[in-house]
Amino acid sequence: MTALLRIDDLHKSFGGVAAANGASFAVDAGEFLALIGPNGAGKTTALRLMAGLLQPDSGRIFFDDRDVTSLPTHARVRLGLGFTHQIVRPFYSFSTIENVMIAAGHRQTESPWRALTARSRQAARERAAAILARIGLAGQADQSPRALPLGQRKRLEVARAIALDPRLLLLDEPLAGLSSAEAATMADLIRALPQSGITVVLVEHNLGEVLRVADRIVVLDGGGVLADGVPAEVMARAEVRQAYTGTS
Ligand SMILES: Nc1ncnc2c1ncn2[C@@H]1O[C@H](COP(=O)(O)OP(=O)(O)OP(=O)(O)O)[C@@H](O)[C@H]1O
Ligand SMILES: [Mg+2]
Repeated sequence: MTALLRIDDLHKSFGGVAAANGASFAVDAGEFLALIGPNGAGKTTALRLMAGLLQPDSGRIFFDDRDVTSLPTHARVRLGLGFTHQIVRPFYSFSTIENVMIAAGHRQTESPWRALTARSRQAARERAAAILARIGLAGQADQSPRALPLGQRKRLEVARAIALDPRLLLLDEPLAGLSSAEAATMADLIRALPQSGITVVLVEHNLGEVLRVADRIVVLDGGGVLADGVPAEVMARAEVRQAYTGTS
């Protein structure tokens, strides 16, 4: 299987802190990879480097065998590299379905507002409705995102990312702050994405759900890869347990 995304020896420092320190790993097409590690391990930094929200000090990023290291975020999005942020931020002055339509509009135009005035508005609404149904938010389409509980607002964030038709989706802690029932619902929704052609890289602290749903786990620590393999085998390693607990 060829890698859809590959990062090669990425380095990124903030002042004296090496947030990425030689991180290298690959993600295969159709895979569900979880990226885990203790607080400050460099997980968000790795995602931001992949998405083009940060430039590495050195190292390279390949998407579909193409070197995208110097491509800006919008160009990577157009190639099919999608992401969600750790903090959810919908447009509160638009309805839930309009938020998905605006996100889809980003693919055609730099101006999200145009997506709502285009002649294709009805088709865009139907497509957005289908995405909301898939993510379990059909009943909330006309509500303001402000009215949605956190679990649903986080699902809206995933719906907005799906609207951009990604081939790879980078998700930063989509389960954070959710009840265990909401977290399980979200994990199941994300787990279904690879079946519809969306490869997933999930950063997540909820290890119970990660172990339940991920195909493979990469553990980061100190900006580098500590372990990479199938979930049960990775979690059994002494160095991984030590990174999490500070003991061996
Ligand atoms: N913009 C920044 N400016 C300064 N330091 C930063 C910046 N971004 C990250 N860092 C530092 O880099 C290190 C890695 O941070 P990062 O956010 O990637 O970790 P993380 O694994 O996502 O942690 P968490 O699990 O808490 O979200 C931390 O020490 C952090 O303080
Ligand atoms: Mg983080």
